[in-house]
Amino acid sequence: MTPRGRFITFEGGEGTGKSTQARRLAAHLRAQGRDVVETREPGGSPGAEAVRHVLLSGAAKPLGPQAEALLFAAARADHVDQLIRPALTAGKLVVCDRFYDSTRVYQGAVGDVPLDLLDTLEQVAADDARPDLTLILDVPVTVGLERAAGRGAGADRFEAEDAAYHERVRAAFLALADEAPERCAVVDASGDADMVAAEIARIVEARLFAPAEGAGA
Ligand code: TYD
Repeated sequence: MTPRGRFITFEGGEGTGKSTQARRLAAHLRAQGRDVVETREPGGSPGAEAVRHVLLSGAAKPLGPQAEALLFAAARADHVDQLIRPALTAGKLVVCDRFYDSTRVYQGAVGDVPLDLLDTLEQVAADDARPDLTLILDVPVTVGLERAAGRGAGADRFEAEDAAYHERVRAAFLALADEAPERCAVVDASGDADMVAAEIARIVEARLFAPAEGAGA
């Protein structure tokens, strides 16, 4: 069955403010009277949250990027089946902090997992639950890593990678936005959170709710 709701994903490197902005966008859309489901990856369903721990603790790192991609996809399949597809089918708006573009960037572009395997995993895990709009939050790597360190939780398996790794992540997200401009919008997230939130609200309005006025947003 073709999903009827709208699916918005947030993507970007470490410390870009995705989680804050996803929360703010969800609140903004709810204030407009829309029915919003807020979620995140890896995780978002009980099964996927269990896999999240295996991935972010670094327990799966020795298995290599391909095995990590399989685990992210397994988590995603459960998340889509349990939460995202039912919400879309019910006509809701889903706002998700990271989705399959993160796999394309971290395990694909940076981890060298072949694209045809990622396409297959995406088909299995997401199937018809494809994002309508992907907001790619962009900040310089040094700013992002400082912000992530400021959260004080200790670096997870991906945050612990060096600056060169995070430069590749940033470049890969920007390349992905270039490849799919009709779906993706890059947002400069280095400024004040209120300004970034306002810009995101404007893009969502233009791209999803007033496409005629928003052409070129
Ligand atoms: P998380 O704690 O959710 O942090 P963030 O605030 O950066 O989103 O950690 C998620 C980490 O998992 C992040 O470093 C990116 C990585 N990741 C992948 O490598 N592949 C994926 O498919 C996903 C969803 C996340």
